[in-house]
Amino acid sequence: MKENGLLILGSIDDTRPETKPDNKHSLSVLSSQFERIPSVTVGEHPHIFRETINKHQYAISYLSTWKKSVSKAADTLENVADVAIIPSSSDVSNTTDYYEDANILKSYDAFHFGEGFLSVKNFPLRMAEVIIEMCDKYNSNFGKALEAGCGPGRTAMELCHRFSHVEGYDYSQGFIDIMIREKEKRNIENLIAYQGDSHAQKEICREKKYDMISGCNLIDRLHSPEVWVQMSKEMLNSGGLLIVASPYTWKPEHTEPQKWIGGLKRDGEDCYTVDGLRRLLEPELVLLEELKVPFVIPDADGTYQYTYSNCTVFGDASKKK
Ligand SMILES: C[S@@+](CC[C@H](N)C(=O)[O-])C[C@H]1O[C@@H](n2cnc3c(N)ncnc32)[C@H](O)[C@@H]1O
Repeated sequence: MKENGLLILGSIDDTRPETKPDNKHSLSVLSSQFERIPSVTVGEHPHIFRETINKHQYAISYLSTWKKSVSKAADTLENVADVAIIPSSSDVSNTTDYYEDANILKSYDAFHFGEGFLSVKNFPLRMAEVIIEMCDKYNSNFGKALEAGCGPGRTAMELCHRFSHVEGYDYSQGFIDIMIREKEKRNIENLIAYQGDSHAQKEICREKKYDMISGCNLIDRLHSPEVWVQMSKEMLNSGGLLIVASPYTWKPEHTEPQKWIGGLKRDGEDCYTVDGLRRLLEPELVLLEELKVPFVIPDADGTYQYTYSNCTVFGDASKKK
């Protein structure tokens, strides 16, 4: 840019004058090369991008105007080289590494134990409420509950208020470490937390059968989701409920397309995940309820994932009202 040239910037970094930037913030680069033009109108512009039927990316763009500074231009290059870049969640492609990444662990810690974001209720807490409401409605036993792919475990912890025995497991040891820390902090005694793979659920679980098995936002992260679904059906006590919530964000990096339960066309026909789940679970279990549960996850780059998880409740046909 020419000296005294004008930069009009729209950025998801908060560039308002009152912001106190650290060295990873774009303001620290800007102020090393530009002078703010305070008199020009700036603003905050929220926007949302629809990625799939259920998944959206929400961000606020901050507009600001800057003039290239002659005096600051000389040391520009050295300053730029000093700036650290926060890795974005999309930089980590492998499922296992993704859920062990420090930024992701931090986001999920806040997602499970914080207040919720953008006025949307804390999702793991809401899922526990939904599970308990469904078990009440369908007169299911509050004996043994299993929460598969539980992340840092908030849903499992809340289930402990009603179920006598709760297990929660996740592939990520980082999440299980957070879960054990929180469980101890809350003196929860009827919860067992452990690392494990959903594809080997039968071998890793402490009990053979459960009154309620749930998987929240799990199936579209498994390499063979139908294995987990079938196994969960077999591990359900008679009269129990299987609760599968997912935004159905199927991606080849997590699941090969031929193993997707839905979200694609087969023989020219749209295949929906709910129909795929019914195919796997019927006739032993039928779809009793379907509801959308919203959730918001903050990403490390300052944007938010604003998504609906489609919650399906399966149980014995005799329970159908
Ligand atoms: C989108 S997160 C959802 C976490 C949590 N259920 C929630 O709703 O916040 C997906 C979770 O699935 C876990 N996961 C992925 N593959 C898994 C596997 N094979 N076995 C067990 N957990 C797995 C991840 O570690 C991660 O915690």
